[in-house]
Amino acid sequence: MRVTLEEAVALLKKGELVAIPTETVYGLAACLEDVAAIQKIYQVKGRPAQNPLIVHLTELGHYVKTRPPYLQQLVEAFWPGPMTLVLEQSQVPEIARAGLPTAAFRVPNHPLTQQILQQTGPLVMPSANLSGRPSSTLPEHVESDFGPHFPVLEGETTLGLESTVLRFADRWEIIRLGALPPEAFETVLGYVPEVRETKKGESPACPGQLFRHYAPAAQLLPLKDNVSGIVVGFSDRHYNATLYSLGSSQDPEAVAENLYATLRRLDEEGVQQAWIDLNIPQEGLWKTISQRLQKAVFQ
Ligand code: TXA
Ligand code: MG
Repeated sequence: MRVTLEEAVALLKKGELVAIPTETVYGLAACLEDVAAIQKIYQVKGRPAQNPLIVHLTELGHYVKTRPPYLQQLVEAFWPGPMTLVLEQSQVPEIARAGLPTAAFRVPNHPLTQQILQQTGPLVMPSANLSGRPSSTLPEHVESDFGPHFPVLEGETTLGLESTVLRFADRWEIIRLGALPPEAFETVLGYVPEVRETKKGESPACPGQLFRHYAPAAQLLPLKDNVSGIVVGFSDRHYNATLYSLGSSQDPEAVAENLYATLRRLDEEGVQQAWIDLNIPQEGLWKTISQRLQKAVFQ
């Protein structure tokens, strides 16, 4: 159900959930101080209780306990925008951070998100999709996951991939690849932050990365030679199969924008199985796209 900005604000203040657009993907919003509403987020998404949420706000303010080196420079360079920082927190309700001593923070850049935040105060927002499914980049995606009566504020998500999540441990490191590629941080930090993978037996740096993710119901398999059927691939490559195009292999921004809609289209059209072209460069935004596709592959 489409709602206006005023209705979205009123619903949030009443303790309801609303899906709202951000510049990355749609978020499933609840007010930060409303523990019952935050509980609903976990329920509605089917999200594991140990997977914490991102606090969205207009500035960090008093929520941060310690300020690691280069925090200010990162904030000035990338906020508002698709960067999330995990920091030692103060006064963030336990349920929002799944009991961790840290919390994730982001100042979003979408004008509608900003207008809402100004009226509601900080919001927690996971991506507005059922846990494990591809994130939503269109109102229809939200309605397909949560039903036609779920309140959605319509607006454009332009980047199509979630924010990049960083934390500080001796140096800044990336714990979830996202819309800002690792190389983007070099001018500010003087180094390209390493991408931290959680090893077996370690406590996870980014709990969400442990779970199956970004996956349609259709079974996706890595592309092999001479396959027929359906291929999720690139418009400028030739396959002997029906192509579900992600866009041109020369245009990572457009592929990012299309990615989840293309994966969701497989399910909308009842596709049971498809091959996916994973022959992608491992740099810049392609690194994030490649990681998302790897996660979507049938395991
Ligand atoms: O672009 C985005 O980040 C979108 C929009 C709506 O802002 N949000 C989003 O939220 O992608 P979600 O919940 O789908 O992903 C948040 C990720 C999860 O993998 C979670 O485990 C991680 O951030 N995270 C949250 N708090 C954390 C913390 N304290 N320590 C480590 N990882 C954390
Ligand atoms: Mg998500």
